[in-house]
Amino acid sequence: MQQPNWYKNSVFYEIYLRSYMDGNNDGVGDFIGLTKRLGYLKRLGVDCIWLLPIYPSPRLDDGYDIADYYSIDPDYGSLNDFKKLVKEVHKRNMRVVIDLVVNHTSDQHPWFQSARSDPNSPYYNYYVWSDSDQRYQDARIIFLDSEKSNWTWDEKTQKYYWHRFYSSQPDLNYENPAVREEMLNIIRFWLDLGIDGFRVDAVPYLFQKDGTDCENLPETHEFLKKIREFVDNNFPGRILICEANQRPKDVVKYLGREDEFHMAFHFPMMPRIFQALRSCDKTHVEETIKQTPTIPASCQWGTFLRNHDELTLEMVTNEEREWLWREYAPDPKMRLNLGIRRRLAPLLDNNQGKIELAYSLLFSLPGSPFIYYGDEIGMGDNISLPDRDGVRTPMQWDTTLNAGFTKTNQNNNPVISDPEFAPAMVNVQKNINERHSLWHKVKRLIKIRKKEPALQTNEITLLNIEDKRVLAFIRTNACERLIIIHNLSNSRIDFNFDYPAAEAKTYIDLISQIEIGMTIASVKGTLEPYQSLWLKPKKRNILGYKKLSII
Ligand code: GLC
Repeated sequence: MQQPNWYKNSVFYEIYLRSYMDGNNDGVGDFIGLTKRLGYLKRLGVDCIWLLPIYPSPRLDDGYDIADYYSIDPDYGSLNDFKKLVKEVHKRNMRVVIDLVVNHTSDQHPWFQSARSDPNSPYYNYYVWSDSDQRYQDARIIFLDSEKSNWTWDEKTQKYYWHRFYSSQPDLNYENPAVREEMLNIIRFWLDLGIDGFRVDAVPYLFQKDGTDCENLPETHEFLKKIREFVDNNFPGRILICEANQRPKDVVKYLGREDEFHMAFHFPMMPRIFQALRSCDKTHVEETIKQTPTIPASCQWGTFLRNHDELTLEMVTNEEREWLWREYAPDPKMRLNLGIRRRLAPLLDNNQGKIELAYSLLFSLPGSPFIYYGDEIGMGDNISLPDRDGVRTPMQWDTTLNAGFTKTNQNNNPVISDPEFAPAMVNVQKNINERHSLWHKVKRLIKIRKKEPALQTNEITLLNIEDKRVLAFIRTNACERLIIIHNLSNSRIDFNFDYPAAEAKTYIDLISQIEIGMTIASVKGTLEPYQSLWLKPKKRNILGYKKLSII
């Protein structure tokens, strides 16, 4: 398993364990269940799974409110079950990263319980207290729909405590060296168990400073560098993935000079893809590509279409947000904070062509793609559930009871019942059985992506095509280049653009295996609605390719 930079060519798959697969039939997904499904993930082409928080928690933020960093939520199994899962993952030459919540704990955590019960407790200074709720007024409120302030009054201590998320999630005080040390101990504990790294939650907010917005402060970067040093010194090859929902120029700082995170999520690209798909206009995707800074050689972007949270619209202007809300979340129930709490397939009108195009964009742009569980089969959402629960419903395996997720009816997380997305229509088995299903398309794109070194670099050059509906770019590595062309619209489009650098007369579309002809100076062809072409120069005369259009 010793492959440095393995994450640069990996496909990640995000799992909400509670809803994935119930192995002991108590209605809750668990390690035993997931272990049984590893073969499925391997078959799809997944390289690394990312588990949402697995720690004991009162679950007021679905596990992101941790009550004990050193054990497993008993609902999910035992530490032994977890170790077994890690072993089984590695046996299949896959990897596993887990969520690490560094910014805050649950208010049920014994540290906070002790802190609030006694100002002389050694844990009192694990948190940020104040007599006034007027400090750090420039810090924005993130959970706008539920929190009015980042300070909450605590009756017991007669003080306010600081929290960037729910008031049940007091922020840790990183000014305190003991907190910094605790976090390194926690990191050691899990890496000792053999995991391959962490997705580190909510990193921009670790320190506070008067007169700032309390985000991305130099002190925060300094501590994160300490974490990286610790990991590199003690656990080389393990990775840190940064969740910082910030502008590219701020996010890139979390990669440092290869001395902070190995990867960072590319938040700004995601809403631009949805904007492009709805308006059939590539402008903002192109702008985001241009604005994305170069990153150090060993670092990588994590790209995604959807995840377990609302589709965040923090990276677009107010006007654009209003437009995206109108287009994608006409019912106010579909909105949350500054985002949209819906899944990929319903967002894209359950139109397979459009969904495939979204994946084709994701897999052909720079970055290692993250797939959110269920989105590979086009699962639906349930907006009648609160908060983000509607995008965290049980995985739909087949048409048996509870979509094959659990054999008991006592599960508290209802399976999607909307007829369009119910298990009868959307499930893994059906997807696997049908040759032209979304699942097969995703699997195929993954396979091609992993075979093509040019898709694994961060090199991208936009091609200048006037038609706003056609997004085209070149992906290169030292020895080859691919021409990628996407039709963002529902219309058939003839294209013909200058391409003086053509190295071959014939190109093969890696997706359809069809040949496309070229002159020495131009590329010409036809795109079907929502079609993508991933064109590779044809070097040898391989028999069996169908001819489409030869100039
Ligand atoms: C991250 C998580 C989100 C959680 C928040 C607070 O943004 O993705 O689910 O609610 O942090 O921990």
